[in-house]
Amino acid sequence: MKLFIDTANTQEIRDAASIGVICGVTTNPTLVAKEGRDFSDVIQEIAEIVDGPISAEVMADDCNGMIAEARTLSKIHPNIVIKIPVTQEGLKAVHQLAKEGIRTNVTLIFSPSQALLAARAGASFVSPFVGRLNDISNDGITLIKTIADIFSLHNIKTEIIAASIRDPQSVVACAKAGAHIATLPYKVIQAMFVHPLTDAGIQKFKKDWNKK
Ligand code: E4P
Repeated sequence: MKLFIDTANTQEIRDAASIGVICGVTTNPTLVAKEGRDFSDVIQEIAEIVDGPISAEVMADDCNGMIAEARTLSKIHPNIVIKIPVTQEGLKAVHQLAKEGIRTNVTLIFSPSQALLAARAGASFVSPFVGRLNDISNDGITLIKTIADIFSLHNIKTEIIAASIRDPQSVVACAKAGAHIATLPYKVIQAMFVHPLTDAGIQKFKKDWNKK
């Protein structure tokens, strides 16, 4: 399973990229708004930092509006992937953009049937939201596993991006469930490093070294 970072904060992206663990970026309107910067400037800067898929979300509700935004965004950089919500208008746009060779990431996926529709419309990626399902006492990991099983059984090439990830345990569970990618907030990447035995081990090695 590959790792993407889920943020529009370019400092976080630089920090995660410097560790060498991420190969793509996802953003959403909430994350971009938090930065208080021009959208295309942010996307352009991200494209200079990471050489991999960068998801940028459209805001129109109708197919033509989404396609117009997608064409503009995709001109910023060849790595731009257009993020589109899984609505009927959204999938019409996905279908058209696929014919134009513009890659899409269908977002706000909460059921296997939505994922199947998105894949058949021509999505390059689907983004099932694990954390938001868990928040309402559903099982986000089962959703990932079901989609992964369906895609594998029917030889569907669309990649599954496990999204809305809140903790390291969910990252591991998504990897076991068959997600191709997990997109992680920077704080989850940082949390993945942490183990008390690692800290204790470093302290003990230092103490012993200093006794010599
Ligand atoms: C995915 O692409 C979304 O940007 C993101 O993972 C949503 O996460 P949240 O549920 O923590 O807002």
